[in-house]
Order: sequence, then C-alpha cells, then structure tokens
Amino acid sequence: MFGFLRRQSPEISFAMPKDNESLSDGEWSRVLSLLDVLRGIVAGRERFVRDRGLAADVFLPGGNWRKSGAANDFFQIFDLVSAGDRAVIDRLRWYANPFTGQRLVTMEPSFGHRSDEPPPPDHETVLTERRAALAPMLNDFLAMQASWPKELRRVRYPARLGEIGFRVDGGILNPDTFRYFRHLDVLWRAKVIEPLLHPRRGSTPTIVEIGAGHGGLAAGLLQILPQARYIVIDLAESLLFSGIYLSVLRNALPIFATSPDVQPGATGLTLVPAHFAIDPLAALIGRADLIINTASFGEMLPDQVDHYAKLAARWLGEGGALYESNTSDRTHNTSTPVEVLGRYLSMERTIEEARMDGETHVWRRKGG
Ligand SMILES: C[S@@+](CC[C@H](N)C(=O)[O-])C[C@H]1O[C@@H](n2cnc3c(N)ncnc32)[C@H](O)[C@@H]1O
Repeated sequence: MFGFLRRQSPEISFAMPKDNESLSDGEWSRVLSLLDVLRGIVAGRERFVRDRGLAADVFLPGGNWRKSGAANDFFQIFDLVSAGDRAVIDRLRWYANPFTGQRLVTMEPSFGHRSDEPPPPDHETVLTERRAALAPMLNDFLAMQASWPKELRRVRYPARLGEIGFRVDGGILNPDTFRYFRHLDVLWRAKVIEPLLHPRRGSTPTIVEIGAGHGGLAAGLLQILPQARYIVIDLAESLLFSGIYLSVLRNALPIFATSPDVQPGATGLTLVPAHFAIDPLAALIGRADLIINTASFGEMLPDQVDHYAKLAARWLGEGGALYESNTSDRTHNTSTPVEVLGRYLSMERTIEEARMDGETHVWRRKGG
C-alpha cells in the first residue's frame, strides 16, 4: 500500500536578500568571540611554525592559497570579515567566492570579480534575470531529490548570512548549495553515509573534513548525522568563515583548537587550524570513519597533500573511507592528489558520474 503514497509537491519560491534573517544579538556575540580567537591565531602562525621547527611548505598557506603572488583574494576577504562589521558578516556568504568559485550575490561564476567587491546596486534586477537561467538546476535538484531517503530530505540550507536563491520547502537552492547536495547524493549512493547512521553500540562516528571552505558540506552532513563528531581542519583564515557559518546554522559555538594541545570534542564540531594538525592533537583524533576533501587537495602543495595523506592513513580504521573530489589538472592546480594519496592509501573506486570538482574517488587504508 505504501507504494501508492505520493510525495507532496514541494513549495517553491525565490528568496531575495531582503528575505534573509539577520543575526541576533546572541549570534553576534558568538561571532565576536570567534573573530578574537582567529585574529590571534593568524597573527601568531608564522612564529609558531618557526619556533616549532615545522616545515613552512606544509604548515603555512601554500599552492593556490599562498600569501605572496596569490592567485586568489582570500587574504583580503579575511581582512574584510575579521574587521567585524556586522552588516558584512550578515552577508558572509557573498564573500565566499574563493571557496565556491561563485559570486553568490548575482549567482554567476566569480571569474573577473574580486571577492571583496560590494554587491552591484542593481543586484536584485540581475538576480531576477538569473532566476530563469537557473530553472534547469532546480529541475535537476527536484529529480535528484525524488529518490532520496528521509535522512537526505531533511537537509536545509537556511536563508541566513546572505544565502539566497530558490526556496524549496524552506531551504535555499543556488549553484553552491546544489553542489553540496550533489556531493551528499553521491556520498549516500556510494554507501559511505549509511554505516555512520548505525554505528556500533556506544560509538560516535568521526568525520574529518580537510579544507571545508565556508562549511557548506559540513552543514549538510551534520544535519544527516547530528550525533557525529565532526572535525574541520583548515587554514585559520577559512575557519573564520566555517566557524561563523556553522555556529549560526547549528546555534552553538564549535570547540576551537587554540593550540595542538587541545582535545577535539567527543561529539559535535571541532575546528582545527591547519598548523595545529600535529601531535598531540593529531593523535587525539584517533580513528576516523570518514575523511572528506573536496576541491582542495589539488590546490595545495604536494608536501601538504602528503602530510594529510599520511594522517588519513593513520586515522582510517577498518571500514573507514576517504571521499575526495579534486582535479589533477595542473593548469590551475598545484598538486596531483591521486599520485600523492596513492602512496599511502588504496583507491577503492572512481565515481564516474560525480564530476563536481574533478574526479571523485573513495579511498581506503592499504590492506584494509
Ligand atoms: C576551493 S576551497 C574548497 C572548499 C570546500 N571544500 C568546497 O568544496 O566548497 C579550498 C579549501 O582548501 C583549504 N586549504 C588550502 N590549503 C590548505 C591547507 N594547507 N590545509 C587545509 N586546508 C587548506 C582552503 O582554506 C579552502 O577551505
């Protein structure tokens, strides 16, 4: 009889910037505490790396994220956001271009635009025009969603922090959130998520995401797996974005590793600056059930990917997986992830149809 039950058609409208819900005073005070911590960590990073004798090519921003001659304007948006202007932070997602490649305020590829550019005065008109061009994306999303189980269907990207686009059953769909929905869809179909929904009695699934950008995929996964222990390792500047975004969406401050001596949380979200991903913290992470890297290893230096590949081999237990989607094209990228990861891990499969950020692979520990 259940086969005859039909899903109700989703409610669809279009959320403009004016439909965004602004930060509350409580949220703003959490943002201010993150700003304070992160400014200090960024200011002390070079000295920390030098004093500990750590390799600068591994622990300082490198590859496409290097400070000198950087191809992106990532450091400028950190300066912009860390200056603490509430109106800017209320539109945080409009400054996430270096992570997503999209200029969200007009929903077009960010190529040719600086990320700290203010929105064009006519952006509402531009958005209205873009809406028609994005109709095929909406149709693709609805077709993909039709086969989803309840766990995926509960994921929503709310109209907060500047997120705009089609509003489908209360959540926002735009080219960025569509990309994260596609990753969630692929992860589900690759049977990577399901085992984490039913962990052995008493155990908490651990997910480590390396290079999470503003935290879009983490936000989705944490809605599917609210009981997970989720650890984000990223450049401190990027953690300002994911820290703000995820603390607002989750209505809670994450645990923040202010040194490599901090114990990651036993559950919930922990943010780790990349230069603190060393022992004892690295050892305290213990086992990881799922490690994620999208559009990120390819943009690092080969020695940075090597460092994470070794950590992944150490963290992945039996049944654990590294899900990775990157291009190895060296025209715009600075490493060939497949080559480096293959030194320490076994590639289980390539997911041919998933070409969101390049080639998508599932890796396991060697001999596991
Ligand atoms: C293009 S963004 C992709 C963000 C996100 N994964 C996504 O798919 O939207 C690349 C990410 O890699 C991060 N990254 C760059 N170098 C890194 C490093 N050495 N360690 C950790 N993360 C790094 C950047 O900070 C950024 O979050």
